[in-house]
Amino acid sequence: MTRLPDFDEVIDRIGTHSVKWDCMESLYGVSPQEGIAMWVADMDFRPPQAVQDALTTLMRQGVYGYWGDERAYTAAIQWWMANRHGWTIAPEWIFTTHGLVNGTSLCLQAFTQPGDGVVLMTPVYHAFARVIRASGRKVVECALKTVEGRYEMDFDAWDAQMDGTAKMLILCSPHNPGGRVWTAAELKATAEFAQRHNLILVSDEIHHDLVMPGHTHIPMAVAAPDQPVVMMTATTKTFNIAGAHSGNVIIADPALRARFGATMAAMGISPNSFGIAMATAAYSPEGAAWVDALNTYLDGNRQAFDAIVNTIPGVKSMPLEATYLAWVDFSGTGMAAPEFIARVEKTAKIAANHGATFGLGGDGCLRFNLATPRARVVDAANRLKAAFADLQ
Ligand SMILES: Cc1ncc(COP(=O)(O)O)c(C=O)c1O
Repeated sequence: MTRLPDFDEVIDRIGTHSVKWDCMESLYGVSPQEGIAMWVADMDFRPPQAVQDALTTLMRQGVYGYWGDERAYTAAIQWWMANRHGWTIAPEWIFTTHGLVNGTSLCLQAFTQPGDGVVLMTPVYHAFARVIRASGRKVVECALKTVEGRYEMDFDAWDAQMDGTAKMLILCSPHNPGGRVWTAAELKATAEFAQRHNLILVSDEIHHDLVMPGHTHIPMAVAAPDQPVVMMTATTKTFNIAGAHSGNVIIADPALRARFGATMAAMGISPNSFGIAMATAAYSPEGAAWVDALNTYLDGNRQAFDAIVNTIPGVKSMPLEATYLAWVDFSGTGMAAPEFIARVEKTAKIAANHGATFGLGGDGCLRFNLATPRARVVDAANRLKAAFADLQ
């Protein structure tokens, strides 16, 4: 039975301990009652019914002991990666972490030493830099270049930047916040860059299922099959179950796997039963149909948002190839960040992520989360248009 969702349903999340809605006032000064939460990357949608059913089954039985017997879980992951991503994996390659920020942090512990450099292609997901610095490692910012309105890699410039102190590269694929789906050639070139500079290659592919029509995500392990790579995937972004804090680090290479396994053991990490139950139910034919419907809906949101926002003189929303995170460049307005941010927060009453937090190249932009009912996306875009009405 296919049970497809109504993504237009407005679900009130205020007062539910949602970081997105219940912390927007303290973080952005925007009240949730009159404002719109468009910052942190979770969606205002319920997950597939199969996920709800899995939790209901757990609750009906009502005993919440330690989880064990991973066969159904690893089989579901294998099925999903083979069917949705053309990637064949073995169960013993899979480690389950408490999310992928945790996975990133474990990679830093396993593969680098304090003081080592870690390369990021900026602007990029802000938590990478946060955990690198908190772990006593150094962020090496390699700036993406903008070519015809979208981000491209710049290996000539980055080769010149490498001085031997960097030991790891964290790729974000698809890219948050630029929404790029990297091509096979770009992925291969990234693997070669990592090899040239002896960088452990970590590929965070948490957004791999959220791909717009006309684009195809290629896992790094498929694009560069001969290169050791640490792959990071999760059900949490795809199915909006981030509160489960569950993710998978998947490593085919035996030497890297042994090092990562030793760090997992040292940290005493094992999965929680709620994350496993939800992930196993999500990686299913019903979950696949739900994601297909979601991507069609998100593509409609993206088009509705861009159609309005791109009419504001000096404002440009990067065309999204993947993710539901619109990256909007305000630099063409001639305004400094405090001014356009004030207009977005105080006049439009929208909480959006500040571009500077994504690193080098981000300060002229804001990131808007479009995974909310269409009517709210259109309302937000019209509020932005009104907040910059004097430019029109
Ligand atoms: C690239 C990327 N990695 C990781 C995460 C968060 O992962 P988790 O919630 O599993 O820690 C996000 C969240 O937006 C993300 O965009």
